[in-house]
Amino acid sequence: MNISIIQPPQVAWASGLFSGGPLIRKSTCIGNLANVFADEQAWQAYPPHEVVYEVDMLDSASTEGALYTGVTHLNPGKVGDEYFMTRGHFHARREQGEVYCGLRGTGLLLLQDEQGAARLEHVFPGSVHIIPGFTAHRLINTGSDILSALAVWPSAAGHDYAALAQGFSVRVVEEGGEARVKEINHD
Ligand code: F6R
Ligand code: MN
Repeated sequence: MNISIIQPPQVAWASGLFSGGPLIRKSTCIGNLANVFADEQAWQAYPPHEVVYEVDMLDSASTEGALYTGVTHLNPGKVGDEYFMTRGHFHARREQGEVYCGLRGTGLLLLQDEQGAARLEHVFPGSVHIIPGFTAHRLINTGSDILSALAVWPSAAGHDYAALAQGFSVRVVEEGGEARVKEINHD
């Protein structure tokens, strides 16, 4: 028998950069994030093509039971006093979970259940985050470096952004040089 040994794709843990695999890259710019940040005027004042985050994903199988692997690189920055963050989503298949691992930079992972109850976890190189099903998730970069986090999730999970059109129930802003968590009342 002639068994071949395959060279898998690699990720550089310190930077989160992939090499050796077919990749799909998706960039999200300020202009794609309408109604995400609280300060509409500050958002309007930004060049719309400024990149907020990029996701590099291994181009792997999308069949039921398969897993996707991707790294999010979230730039440092603020819109008004609110830190750069990802749009955030529930999975379309609500029961499907995900694992995030912090690789570079520092920030927060905002988790929110379907009743609107929110919690935050520190993200840092080596942090491991178990995101259960039925839980919306968003990365927030509270540091001055790029925040990079590796994620593994079921290919069949899908994304539901519309369910959070009203926004999360927490915003993270800079106040006096420090991150401050503000609770938002949507009633
Ligand atoms: C996949 C996942 C991440 C995010 C990425 C960008 O399920 O959670 O790969 O997709 O961090 O965030 P969104 O998709 O909210 O723009
Ligand atoms: Mn997800």
